[in-house]
Amino acid sequence: MRGNGKVILLGEHAVVHGVPALAAGLSRGATARVAERVEPTLAIAPWSVEVRVGEEEPLARALEALFVARESYSSGRARRRAVDVTMELPGSAGLGSSAAIGVAVLRALDEADGIARDFDALQEIALAWERVFHGNPSGIDTAMAIAGGVALYRRRPGPGESGLELVQPARSVALVVGHSGSGASTREMVARVAQHAERDSEAFAARLAAIGALVEQGLAALREGDLDALGEAFDANHAHLSAWGVSTPTLDAMCDAARRAGALGAKLTGGGGGGCMIALVPDAATSARVNDVLGGLGETAFEVTIERTG
Ligand code: PMV
Repeated sequence: MRGNGKVILLGEHAVVHGVPALAAGLSRGATARVAERVEPTLAIAPWSVEVRVGEEEPLARALEALFVARESYSSGRARRRAVDVTMELPGSAGLGSSAAIGVAVLRALDEADGIARDFDALQEIALAWERVFHGNPSGIDTAMAIAGGVALYRRRPGPGESGLELVQPARSVALVVGHSGSGASTREMVARVAQHAERDSEAFAARLAAIGALVEQGLAALREGDLDALGEAFDANHAHLSAWGVSTPTLDAMCDAARRAGALGAKLTGGGGGGCMIALVPDAATSARVNDVLGGLGETAFEVTIERTG
């Protein structure tokens, strides 16, 4: 069973504070299956990690939180089992790896117990897992790990709404994802942004509104197939994220280099403080050039296509 990674196109961090964010599911993610081991443990390949409930590390505590949440939502049908996960994403990179694992594990356990859940129930249980890693997650990572596709996500939706609105891009959109080589704690980056809110609430609200407008611009651009407008929104969003202190010199250098190599816009994606950036590329030749440049500056780069669905 799968849980996919994601890239946030626009609106990370602001989404924690109620602004909608635009994200795209990745085809890479985590695959989980129930294992034969007697004890309920979680093993992750190729990371050579194995944890069991009762241990102190976050992954073990997240597994316990997931078991507890399943038990309280499953009318006595949920069993604690051993699970094996195969991971196709780097961790701590802003690509939603923890949510992808949590959703894959949840789905594998549910399948073994013959339990079917709707989006809201999956999201609720996956959030119990995600809170262990992120403290105050907006829920965008778990929502995208469950649903995939391209979507606008809002943390506090109106009554009866799931918070996830699927978006149909007018044309396919090519991105190059560049990994800066260092990992970062999303929890710490979210706390850093919250300090700005405490220090100067007016300036913070103004920045949230500005990012909200960029998300709107990006949404319209996706729906109209206007790559230039989407690229402009990437650049402006990156500047806001830098002002909050969640970019790094390497991420800034990678964004600049991607723009110089012909990208229409570039920004960090996810929690920042390290991890990944994305560059919007207009054609295959630019994509190859940007890929080379980013691979040279950071650790790795790979191309991602967001498919046209409308
Ligand atoms: O770093 P990631 O992949 O977990 O993405 C985090 C996205 C944030 O907006 C920074 C946090 C959140 O919970 O939405």
